[in-house]
Amino acid sequence: MIITSCGNSLSIAKNVARQLHATFSPLTISSFPDGDIYLKFNTSVKGKKVVIIHSFQPDADKSLFDVIFAAETAKDLGAKKVILVAPYLAYMRQDKRFHPGEAISSRIMAKHLNPCIDKIITIDPHLHRYKSLKDIFTVSTVKLTANHAIGHYVKNHIKDPVIIGPDWESYQWAEVIAKEVGCEHTVLEKTRFSSRRVESKMVRPITLKGKNVVIVDDIISTGHTMIEALKKAKQEKARSIIGIGVHGLFVEDGFSKMKKAGFNQILTTNCIEHLTNKIDITSLLVDELKKER
Ligand code: R5P
Repeated sequence: MIITSCGNSLSIAKNVARQLHATFSPLTISSFPDGDIYLKFNTSVKGKKVVIIHSFQPDADKSLFDVIFAAETAKDLGAKKVILVAPYLAYMRQDKRFHPGEAISSRIMAKHLNPCIDKIITIDPHLHRYKSLKDIFTVSTVKLTANHAIGHYVKNHIKDPVIIGPDWESYQWAEVIAKEVGCEHTVLEKTRFSSRRVESKMVRPITLKGKNVVIVDDIISTGHTMIEALKKAKQEKARSIIGIGVHGLFVEDGFSKMKKAGFNQILTTNCIEHLTNKIDITSLLVDELKKER
């Protein structure tokens, strides 16, 4: 088995390879003077299983393009099987045509990956209107979750917590994590007015006063969703407020905005490399890839 990466997730890729006693060989990716992509494998992949470990952030569009080139090249060089491990899979939020004429990005992304990979493994993909990855992928799919790792972290590091999901889709994280921790939880009702403006209200109130409120979501992008949820916790006089995201994108200076808004702590998993990474998901990938050995 050869473990490689197009550039994102390099440290996870290295750790996974070390734990699996597999060869780690990163790709050379650069551009010709005119901007055309240049990509090169630096080890022989003929007859081997090639695992590309690459999160689709930063730079989702380049990631998709690089992964397609890497997977096609692996196949062309005689790889036995090409597995894409995308700890964060981008484009999943655009799962319908919200306005006439829009691209359904998630379908287009999957349509381009289907012919060049044999399997995709990802962590907490944003499944909202799709029931499963199978709705868009024709190849074998594995959906892992960081719920257990997050629950374990909260249980061991945060005293007297309550869990809040900032919108109803986040019940899939809030409910499971609260159960694991053994504490109360609720989800807020979020209205999104634009990609940068949201409003939230608490429809099933629980006591937040004096509690360490942990707001959990799959994606922290601009941070606005987290900040709206924080406002509710502040109104209810929470003792401290901690934001946890599986995937910390922190675009448009989201991290600074969240800190300024008053979060006591902001934590993420290392699905996307960031200084907030405190929850390690490497073992999830190692356990899954052991099945391929
Ligand atoms: C969408 O429903 C997701 O679960 C997140 O709530 C959303 O992506 C967060 O985006 P932002 O940080 O830009 O508010």
